[in-house]
Amino acid sequence: MDSTAGIRLDISGTEAFLPAADLDGLAGPVTAAAAELAAGTGPGSDFLGWLDLPARIGEAELAAVEAAAARLRGLADCCVVVGIGGSYLGARAVLEALGGPAPGAPELLFAGTGLCPATLGRVLDRVAQREPALCVISKSGTTLEPAVAFRLLRADLERRYGARAAERIVAITDARRGALKTMADEQGYATFVVPDDVGGRFSVLTPVGLVPLAVAGVDIRALVDGARAMRAACAAPDLRANPAHLYAAVRHALYRRGFTIEVLSSFHGGLGQVAEWWKQLFGESEGKGGQGIFPASTVMTTDLHSLGQYLQDGRRCIQETFLTVDRTRPEIAVPAGGADGRDLDGLDYLAGMPLDEINRRAFAGTRAAHLAGGVPCTALALETVDARSVGALLYLFEKAVAVSGRLLGVNPFDQPGVEAYKKEMFRLLGKR
Ligand code: PA5
Repeated sequence: MDSTAGIRLDISGTEAFLPAADLDGLAGPVTAAAAELAAGTGPGSDFLGWLDLPARIGEAELAAVEAAAARLRGLADCCVVVGIGGSYLGARAVLEALGGPAPGAPELLFAGTGLCPATLGRVLDRVAQREPALCVISKSGTTLEPAVAFRLLRADLERRYGARAAERIVAITDARRGALKTMADEQGYATFVVPDDVGGRFSVLTPVGLVPLAVAGVDIRALVDGARAMRAACAAPDLRANPAHLYAAVRHALYRRGFTIEVLSSFHGGLGQVAEWWKQLFGESEGKGGQGIFPASTVMTTDLHSLGQYLQDGRRCIQETFLTVDRTRPEIAVPAGGADGRDLDGLDYLAGMPLDEINRRAFAGTRAAHLAGGVPCTALALETVDARSVGALLYLFEKAVAVSGRLLGVNPFDQPGVEAYKKEMFRLLGKR
């Protein structure tokens, strides 16, 4: 298992389920898919801006993002990110992976991620006690959930800060179209553009992800740098040396053998939100035309006590991809003995062992058990969790899903099915 941009991919746990010919047979189609992406052809070719984004982002763009973020940090002690789907999941994934905002940076709150009044109410109550800024993000500028949340949050800001409310708002939207663009121009909000050729779920390295992350004090340059390193690694022509292509091929080969659900199981709590981002990326990109792997996720070992039974012993249509981290807080170890030196809790056999090591052995045990139970297992191991490795991981998944969508024969860059609920909802709401 070689390390690429700080990430190792291990497919040895799939070999018992996949004849080598299955994977070798996909080398040609994967190469063809990658060539099509590189040439900018094939279905959805108008939305390939993410492919070279890590290499294309320039100093001027990064500096502008950092300057806007510094200005908001100077004004606010919390920042509400208003957006849904691809307009918030990337920022949230990176933020949670890194353990939250940098010391002294504003807390990020998320709103407009649904229509539940209790959830939005909690954010409004929180904001009322603080000095907030808003990052409102919508590529279309017309999505109902963030638009409603923004109307409420903006009213609160205008009531509290009057004409100066606009200083606290940054809008990230289309360069020309949409209600948010019109409002931002009219009200004089600072704005950033979501590039036309980058879809929501591929937009984490545009201002969509970078602005809120920079407000939270994340090293966005390291994030981009990690993605850049992974992009270089994903240019390898040999299937087995290319992490994104190999991951795409393995999961597709397993899909063809009936493993139609993929569970992304994180052995690092902070990566649970990366899995939420991953679910949108793969679900929206692949689930069309009656096809696609259903993406699900768990956080381990927590979910071994809820979904572990099903994973071990339920319907055998599950492939599992583990996300692990080599080093996490190795200084936290099990202390020896109780206060009186007696082994009352029976844990002395672990005395002195770092929790990190216990977690590692729990992963090895889980993998062995799931393999024995008939679950093909892939593993992605990060040497450590930092902005660079997370950037690399996100790019790996983006490249993989683009290739994997091509293998399925679908357009991985559209989401026509998302319109169906909107149509029904707007009819019931009486939208004209
Ligand atoms: O990936 C996508 O395109 C979607 O998930 C969008 O990001 C989501 O629907 C939000 O759309 P918008 O940014 O236009 O408000």
